[in-house]
Parts: sequence; C-alpha cells; structure tokens
Amino acid sequence: MQAPQIMSKNQLDQKSQAWSALFSEPMSDLVKRYTASVFFDKRLADADIAGSLAHADMLAAQHIISQQDHEAIQKGLATVKAEIDAGKFDWKLDLEDVHLNIEARLTQLVGDAGKRLHTGRSRNDQVATDIRLWLRSEIDLIVPLLADLQRALVAVAEKNADVILPGFTHLQVAQPVSFGHHMLAYVEMFARDAERMADVRKRTNRLPLGAAALAGTSYPLDRERVARTLGMVDEAGNAQVCQNSLDAVSDRDFAIEFTAAASLCMVHISRLSEELILWMSQSFGFIRIADRFTTGSSIMPQKKNPDVPELARGKTGRVVGHLMGLITLMKGQPLAYNKDNQEDKEPLFDTVDTLKDTLRIFSEMVGGQLGSATGQKEGGITVNVPAMEAATLKGYATATDLADYLVKKGLPFRDAHETVAHAVKAAQSHNVDLSELPLKVLQGFNASIEKDVFDCLSLRGSLNARNILGGTAPDQVRAQIARHKARLG
Ligand code: ARG
Repeated sequence: MQAPQIMSKNQLDQKSQAWSALFSEPMSDLVKRYTASVFFDKRLADADIAGSLAHADMLAAQHIISQQDHEAIQKGLATVKAEIDAGKFDWKLDLEDVHLNIEARLTQLVGDAGKRLHTGRSRNDQVATDIRLWLRSEIDLIVPLLADLQRALVAVAEKNADVILPGFTHLQVAQPVSFGHHMLAYVEMFARDAERMADVRKRTNRLPLGAAALAGTSYPLDRERVARTLGMVDEAGNAQVCQNSLDAVSDRDFAIEFTAAASLCMVHISRLSEELILWMSQSFGFIRIADRFTTGSSIMPQKKNPDVPELARGKTGRVVGHLMGLITLMKGQPLAYNKDNQEDKEPLFDTVDTLKDTLRIFSEMVGGQLGSATGQKEGGITVNVPAMEAATLKGYATATDLADYLVKKGLPFRDAHETVAHAVKAAQSHNVDLSELPLKVLQGFNASIEKDVFDCLSLRGSLNARNILGGTAPDQVRAQIARHKARLG
C-alpha cells in the first residue's frame, strides 16, 4: 500500500479552497480559470449578501447560531458590501465564485462567526436563491421600462389617429389604416410582454434555501421566515418556498421562462424595427427618425442609416440564442445540481442587459424626449402624412369598401367581390384610382351603384367605416388611446 500523499504547506496555501483536506494536488491554472465564475457572478453580490443576512437572521432565531455570531455576521457583511460598492473588494479567482469570495472575506473580518454562516446551507441552494433574487429585481426594472415604451407609442398614436397609411398584408397594399391604430398594435404586444414578465416573477419569487445541497438539512431551519425576510411572498402575503429540495437546487425554469418572455419582447421590437427601417427608406419615405438615432456612411455622403432599429433587430437574434442556450443547458441534466448550471448566468445577464438597453433606447426614439442639454431639436418619429396617403391611394385600398357597398345593395358577397375585381381591372388599365372612375363607368359594373358610392371609395370614408371594437376608425383608435392611458397612468 502506498503512503498517503500529504500536501505541503505551500501547496495548501496555493489552493486556499473551501474543501482542501481531501485533495492531494492543486488545480492547474487552466482548470481554475475554466471552473471559476467569479468574474461574472460577482454581479450577484448584493443578492448573495441579502440571502446570507436572511439566513443568518433565521439561524439566530432558531438558536442554531448565537446572537453574538449573528451580530458579527451582520457587521462583517456590511463591511463586505461597502467594500464591494466602493470597488475595493479583492475578488480572487482562486476562490472560484461570488459565494466563496464573500464568505472568505467575512471570515477574515469576523473569524469563526463567518464560518458558521454556511450552517444548513449549500452553494447549490445559495446560488439558486441569488439568481432568483437578482432576476426578480431586474424584472421590477423591466416592467416600468415596458410601460414607458407603451406610453411613448400611445403618444405617437394620439398625434396620428387621423393619419392614413396603407395597411399591408403580404406587404401588398390591403386597406387604409390609421397610423395611430398601427402604433397601438405594438402597444398590445408590449402590454402582453409586461403581463408575461409579471407572471414569470411569480415563479421566480420562490425560495430554494433550506434545500441545502439536494436533500434538505437536519437543522431545524425556518424556511418560511427566510422567504418572508426576502420578500418571497405571494399577493396574499404567504411565504413562497420551493417544496422539493431536489427541484429547488436544480430548477432553472424561471430563467428559461424569463428568457422566453424577453425573446418574445425582442421579437416585437424587431418587427417594429423592420417597419421603421422600411418606412424611412427612400422607397417608402413614410417617416423620419431623429438624426441622433442614425449614422452616416463612410463612403456615401448622402446616407442616413437606421442603425438603432437595425441593431435591435440584430440583438433579437442574440437574445433568442440565449433562450436556446439555456433550454439546451437543462435538457440532459440528471437531478439534482450539476455544475452545468453555472452556465446559466452569462446568457441570463446578457438577456437582461440587452432587453433593458433596447427598451430604453426605443422609448427615447419613439417618444423623442427632447434633450435641451444636448440641443436636440427633433424628437420621436416624424410622419410624412402626404407620402403615406399617396401610397395608400396607389393600391386600390378601398376595393373591399366597394364590395361592402354592393353587399348593402343586396348582392351576395362573393358576387360583389367578383364585380369589384372587374372594376379594379378597368381602373388599372386607365391608371386611375377606383374613386376616379366616372359614376357611369361604375354603374356599368352594377346598376345599383349611386352617387353615394364615392363616400365609401375615399380613404377617409373607408377608415371611418371600420367603426367596430378593435377597428381602425379614428373614433375607435381614440377610445383605445383613452383605455391605454387609464391603464398606464
Ligand atoms: N458557482 C456555482 C454555480 O453558479 C455555485 C454552486 C456550486 N456548487 C457546487 N456544488 N459546486 O452554480
């Protein structure tokens, strides 16, 4: 039998890790770097400290640690937090992650009390708690950003409730719609995004602590007390505690759900981006966006490029990619915790950062808060009303209105449809709009057509006719604007 290998003092110092005794050789630098997460998970420091304070408070209340130790931990963690906030904390790669870094510094500051903090706890339930606390506070920032963007869109809608642009299907002119109505379609999307975020928050706001490594713990922890301290309660004030220890440490559904909700929100922004890009192209010429959201070309002096919407469209791919990353991360994992889970953080962090920045910049670009400090004169979206109307006139957008007119005169809809197709063909061959065909010519297609047909052939007549809940008539649009304003405050 070989003699057991004893680590030299030097080797032990080099290792300086929390589980040293069993290990007979230090990690290589490459393995240290590969396994460490501290350079990204230090972002969880505030959540980690909040979780530790709640845990220590409960340990003391349950007489698992002394009041004295509790006070030492509170003081020590306050110092650690101050050091981190001041940028003076010495993060060590050797200590692998945010949890071990903070605990080591705490122990350096307060001695044995620091070593007692981890009683009844594992990094597995600790990290799961940290991410949930962190994500919850980010959701609480994202929801108001979604409200800001909705308010900006509602303001544009209000200014443009009577402005007509072609509504498209298949990107072919279909029927006239109000530009305000078009903007409000995006308000609906972002309102659903906010609902989804609120829903994800419920499942994020549950406490894993007390699950320990995977099986629970033999200490008489009061998990509900910790949940309440951390604000993990439902609307009725009931503590929200993960009910199965194996699931508690390994569940990342909330991160996936959040990233899915963020992906969908980015998809909405991407669709809006695509429209803004099309609309500001020379071929459409429907809108302008303020210069500060565009850039020039280094070679073509005439260019103004819509960089902000283009980047938002591009960043949508990145966020959707994070969703794929996270969901794939989970698919092969046996219960319970696996180190794979450490890979949840960077995609989640980047999703949050990308979404928040994108929402902020879109509120500014759409709403166009004018910055007097920077001398910005133009805000938001400037609409070229004549260009929109001219484009609507080009595509026989009121053909459906003529068919509806004939239906009111007693024709079955299918026959009316066919009759109008002939009228459109005739108008096309003379290169005129339906409203420019003489009454006599129209009567040639159907004798019941009278002078009042021209009311429904006008763009405005067509718009006003769609006076149904959810329709594009400006009166409906104004009613929706009032509803959104009341809802958004
Ligand atoms: N840094 C780890 C993570 O992010 C913390 C948990 C480590 N747990 C463990 N058993 N190695 O997941």
